[in-house]
Amino acid sequence: MLINNKLATFDPLKAFKFLKVFNTKKSLRTYLDTLDLKKINIGLVPTMGALHLGHISLVEIAKQHCDITIATIFVNPTQFNNTEDLLKYPKTFEEDKQLLIKAGCDVLFSPDVEEMYQPNEVWEYEVGALNTILEGKFRPGHYQGVTQIVYKLFDLVKPDYAFFGQKDYQQFLVISKMAKDFDLNIHLRACPIIREADGLAMSSRNIRLNAKEREKSLQLHKCLQYIKQNYGNCTNNQLVLDAKSFFEDELLALEYLEIVDRESLQPISNFGDAIVLVACSVGATRLIDNMMLP
Ligand code: PAF
Repeated sequence: MLINNKLATFDPLKAFKFLKVFNTKKSLRTYLDTLDLKKINIGLVPTMGALHLGHISLVEIAKQHCDITIATIFVNPTQFNNTEDLLKYPKTFEEDKQLLIKAGCDVLFSPDVEEMYQPNEVWEYEVGALNTILEGKFRPGHYQGVTQIVYKLFDLVKPDYAFFGQKDYQQFLVISKMAKDFDLNIHLRACPIIREADGLAMSSRNIRLNAKEREKSLQLHKCLQYIKQNYGNCTNNQLVLDAKSFFEDELLALEYLEIVDRESLQPISNFGDAIVLVACSVGATRLIDNMMLP
C-alpha cells in the first residue's frame, strides 16, 4: 500500500485492532501460531463473563504491559460447589463483547464446556493450606476447579502475563502457588479492586441484588473501612468482634471476617502488614471483599 508516496510497512500490531473471537482451542492455537512470539508479549485476562469495569480495568492494565491482550469468557462448572449458583450465574455475552471491543481487547476466547472438558475428567492438584480456610472452607472444591481451568488456559495460551483482580485475593494466591508448583513462566499480576461510587466492590454477582439488598451490600465496604481506620487501636480480635456488628441485619449472613497475614492467610494478632477479608451473603447473593492493612 502507498501512503504519501511511501510504501507503508506492514505493522502486525495494527492488524490486531479488531476483536477476534475464537470458540475452539484449535482455532485459537492456529491464530497464536501465526504470531512471532519472540517479539510479542501475550497478556491473558481470564473471566467468567458478565463483565464490569473491574474486568475492563484488567484489560486496560494488560494492554499497558502486553502487545496482545486475550480475554477469556468461560463459566467454569468445576469451580461451582453449588449447582444453583452455577445456573444463576449471569450471562451477558453480547454486552461483554461490546465492552471488550471498546476497551481495545485483541482476542476473546469463549469455548463451551465440551470444548474445555472431557467427560469425567479428573484433576487432582494439591492446593495446600489455602484450600481449607476462608473461601476454601466455605466453597469446598472451588480451588480444585479454579486451578483446573486456569491451568488449561495457561497451557493453551502460554501467556507472558496473566491478570487477576485483587477482589479474589485468595484465588490469586492459589494460582500463584500453582504457577510456582508447575514452574510456569508467567508473570501474574493482582490488580486493584474497582468499586462503585458508593464503595461496593464491582462483581458480576452485583446485578442479582434487588434495591434493598444493594443498599445492605454497602456494609461490606463500610466494615472494611472501619477496620482500616481503627487498625492498631486495639487487638485484632477485638477489632473484628466490634466490626461484626456491621452485619447485624436479617438480610446479611456473615461467613467470615478475618485479619490475616497477606501470604499465608493465617490470622495474625500483631499490628503489621496484613489484609482483612470478608465474605457475606446479602439475601441469596454471596459477596466477597478485602482491604490491605494498615
Ligand atoms: O475469577 C474468576 O472469574 C474465575 O475464577 C476465573 C479465574 C476466570 C477461573 O474460572
